[in-house]
This record gives sequence, C-alpha cells and structure tokens, in this order.
Amino acid sequence: MVQPIGMFDSGFGGLTVARAVIDLLPAEDLVYIGDTGRYPYGNKPATEVQRYAHEIATSLVNDFDVKLIVVACNTAASVALDQLKATLPVPVVSVIEPGARALVQATRNRRAGVIGTVGTIDSGAYDKAVAEVDPAVGLVSAACPGLVEFVERGQTTGTEVRVLTERLLAPVSSAGVDTLLLGCTHYPYLARVIGDVMGPDVVLVSSADETAFAVRALLAKSGLAESSDRVGEHRFYSSGDPAWFAHLGSRLFGPELTDAQSWSA
Ligand code: DGL
Repeated sequence: MVQPIGMFDSGFGGLTVARAVIDLLPAEDLVYIGDTGRYPYGNKPATEVQRYAHEIATSLVNDFDVKLIVVACNTAASVALDQLKATLPVPVVSVIEPGARALVQATRNRRAGVIGTVGTIDSGAYDKAVAEVDPAVGLVSAACPGLVEFVERGQTTGTEVRVLTERLLAPVSSAGVDTLLLGCTHYPYLARVIGDVMGPDVVLVSSADETAFAVRALLAKSGLAESSDRVGEHRFYSSGDPAWFAHLGSRLFGPELTDAQSWSA
C-alpha cells in the first residue's frame, strides 16, 4: 500500500510546489488540498490560520494516510510550522527554509528582497530563516496584499495586476536588491509581471524547486521513497468549488489536474 505525500495551501498557490514535487519525484503519490473556501490566509489572524492548518494536516494524516506533509503555504508555515511539527506523527516540510536557502545562494551583492502576504511578512519568519542561513545578507521585505486574489480569480496579466504590482514592489525595487524571493506560493503565477517590474538585473527566486529537493532528501533519509519503476497518482481537493478548482487548476498546473474533489474540515 503506497502512502502519498500530503500537501496543502490556502488555494491554488501550492500547486507551484506540487508541480516541482511531481516533476522531481514522479513515482510518488500526492494528495493536495486547496482551502479555496476559506482563502486568503494572508490577512487573517495567526490563530485562525493555525486552526485551518491543523485541521487540514490532521485530515491528511487521518483520512489520506500521508507519509509526509508539505506546507505549501508561506502564511501557514510562518505561524503554524512549529505546532504542526510538534503534534503530527509524520515529518513536516515547509517552503520557508528552502526558500531562504535558495535566496542566499542566488544573491551576489548580499542585498535581497522578499515579498509575501501581510501574515508572512509580519511574522518575521523570513528575517529569521535568512539570518540563520547567512546573517550577512541584508533583507528588505514588502507585504503584497491583493496579489493572491488576482491569482485565485485567474487574472495573472493586465493593467490592474501591473499597477498594483508596481505600487507594492516599490519598497524592494528602490532598495538595490539583486534577488527577490517570491515568499508566497501564488506569486510564481505572476512572475512575468513581477520580473518586468523589477527589471532584468533582479533574479526572481521561488521556493518550489528547493522544497522539492528537501522532500526528496527527507524521503530518502527516512526510507520512505517509492521505487522509481512506478508512476504516481495525484489527487486534488478543494474546500471551495471543485469544478472551479479543476478548471483554473488545469490552466495553472497542467494536464495532470483534470479533476478535483470536495474537501471539508
Ligand atoms: N499561497 C499562500 C502563501 O504562500 C497564500 C496565502 C493567502 O491565502 O493569502 O502565503
């Protein structure tokens, strides 16, 4: 009996991480829960996000028998990771430490930026994670309320997105950073606009690939990796409208996401 990897986000954003995990680990089964019925997390009190994260993670363990959980949401990870690690019977991987590592590796002038939701930026999780990897890297942060909502509506280009992005990125684009971490898993879907606003000299970093490497290392270390001669199955669940999740999800994620089912706490 193959145990899947469990993964969750407030909505579609974590699919950027799911894509990287599926591509790197094609033999693994995956169960993804998008909490689209209760998104966005970024403007909610930490206690509420902690409760949602606990409910979803517990369901992944009890209802889907997952062997490992990937918190593919920076906002949830920034306030709930320690609690999840302490209470769950399976290993938990977050996107924050892998993202911080990738950022530190990419910056050349040691001046880097991170953008995320209000919850993530206010938590200080990235200041802490980057300082742990390399205290000499100066980090400039900016919260970007509103960007997640564009992605959830499927609006990833156009004047409205561009104008808001320009306004929100002003603190990091004027700070002389050479690298910008997309500290929200929804933002890779806006990478063209963000990259255009930041200009060609700024490298954009997403935590998706580095997180997938972390998952691979953990599975190998704990003897939980599936043998490479099988093809993994991928199941997608939404706490909102599963038809919308399948519709927009297949556009954002690709052909493996043809169907989504309903999930509730
Ligand atoms: N993808 C979530 C993150 O990485 C988005 C949060 C939200 O729902 O506001 O933070």
